[in-house]
Formats: sequence, C-alpha cells, structure tokens
Amino acid sequence: MTMPDGGGPGGTGPRPSALEFLGRLAGGLVHEIKNPLSTLRINLTLLKEDLADAHPQERALLKRIEVLEKEVTRLDSVLSDFLRYAGMRRLEKQECDLSALVAEMVEFLEPGFRRDGIELRAEVPPLPVDADAALLKRALLNLLLNAQQAIEGQGKIVVSGVREGDDAVLEVRDDGKGIPAEDLERVFDVYYSRSKAGSGLGLPTARRILEEHGGRLELRSREGEGTIVTLSLPLRREALP
Ligand SMILES: Nc1ncnc2c1ncn2[C@@H]1O[C@H](COP(=O)(O)OP(=O)(O)OP(=O)(O)O)[C@@H](O)[C@H]1O
Ligand SMILES: [Mg+2]
Repeated sequence: MTMPDGGGPGGTGPRPSALEFLGRLAGGLVHEIKNPLSTLRINLTLLKEDLADAHPQERALLKRIEVLEKEVTRLDSVLSDFLRYAGMRRLEKQECDLSALVAEMVEFLEPGFRRDGIELRAEVPPLPVDADAALLKRALLNLLLNAQQAIEGQGKIVVSGVREGDDAVLEVRDDGKGIPAEDLERVFDVYYSRSKAGSGLGLPTARRILEEHGGRLELRSREGEGTIVTLSLPLRREALP
C-alpha cells in the first residue's frame, strides 16, 4: 500500500505525529477497500443484466443480487463518509471574509429551506480571516443541515457574527427541537447520530475544521427550544486594531 502524501515512517519531510500517521494509514486502507468494492458493484450489475432474460426460477436470484448491491452501496458510503472525516486535506489558506462566505452559503440554501417553511437569515458584518474557504463552507453546511433537520414544520435559522477581541465569532442558531441534556456530551463523538440517515460525522468534521484553523466550535442546546453553535477563529492580523 502506498502512503498518501508520501509521508509515514521512513518518508522524507517533517515527521508526522503518530495520530497523523494513523489517519493517513486508515485513509490509504479505505481507498484500497473502495477499489474492489467498485469491481463488485460492476459485476453485480452485469449479473443482473445476464439474468434479465432468464427463466422465472432463476430470476429469483435477482433478489439476492439486489441485497448484495444494497450492502455494497452501504459499505461504499460508510467508507466515503470516513474519508471525508479522516482524509481531510491540508489547509489552503487565503484571505477571506466570513460575511461573504456566509452570504454565499445562505444564498445557496435559502430557496430550498424557504420551500420547507424554514426562514434562513444572515446578519454578519465584515470579518476578515485567513482561512480555507472550501473547508469553512463545508463546516457551515454541516451545521446548517443539522439545523434544518432539527426543525419540524416551520422554523428559523439565523447566522450572526461579531468581533470578540482577536477573534471572529459566528453563531448558527436554530429554533428546532434541540438536544436532550443526556445526549449533549456525545454529539461530537465520531459516528454518533440520532437520525436514521445520518452518518454522525457532521459535527466532529466541523469541529475539526475549526480546530485546524486555530479556532473552536462549541454547541449549546436545550430540548424543545433550539440549538446554538458558536464558531470562532482568529481575525486576520491586519484587521486587528
Ligand atoms: N442543530 C441541531 N439541533 C438538534 N440536534 C442536533 C443539531 N445538530 C446536531 N444534532 C444532533 O447531533 C447528532 C450528530 O450530528 P452530526 O452532524 O455529527 O451527525 P448527523 O447529522 O446525524 O449525520 P451527518 O454525518 O449526516 O451530519 C445528530 O444526529 C442530531 O441528533
Ligand atoms: Mg449532520
């Protein structure tokens, strides 16, 4: 197995930490599993095509093939989710403004949310930071989707922003169903999910993205009232007074 990035023990360049090394190793392993899985999937599809004109008795086999196909798809999506979390690429920082970044996300999601009876609004002043805009958008998207999923029927999501000392602080606030106190501790656990379709990687991924930026991500919630997620990251040096 080749090491992604060419790192690992014996590699050149700075020595990665043990954790970093394990992360890369796992990422490589996942890729190695994904390849044969796609071969499996292609062959299952071909088998299905072969059986299409078969005798009715043989066609019963189609059901078995469909079960196999479903399981292959499930395995593949477990692996993709894992890659999204563990295989995070290195930060590509650039000057960016959180207010423009939030505005872009809101513009993208607002029409769909409105159709579902959810009001989505941004109140963010200019907040210049050095950040990997694509990763920050991914973090924000995870949070906005969580907020959307927490709202049953009509509701409201507001993204606001302030300067706090040397930090830019964003708040994503929803008036959805909230999180029971006994579950609050676990929401950042990898693979912890209370939704049927969820993979349980949204919050840990978002937190990790903020931490890689030297920032933080915290969550407060009250069952039946709503949830507030706070993201903070250092303001651009030049933007400091
Ligand atoms: N804004 C929120 N309001 C209520 N519950 C929330 C909110 N955000 C997260 N949660 C709870 O925390 C759990 C974990 O969230 P997380 O985003 O990590 O995973 P997920 O949404 O279940 O799956 P996915 O990987 O698709 O994001 C959710 O299943 C949900 O129960
Ligand atoms: Mg989520």
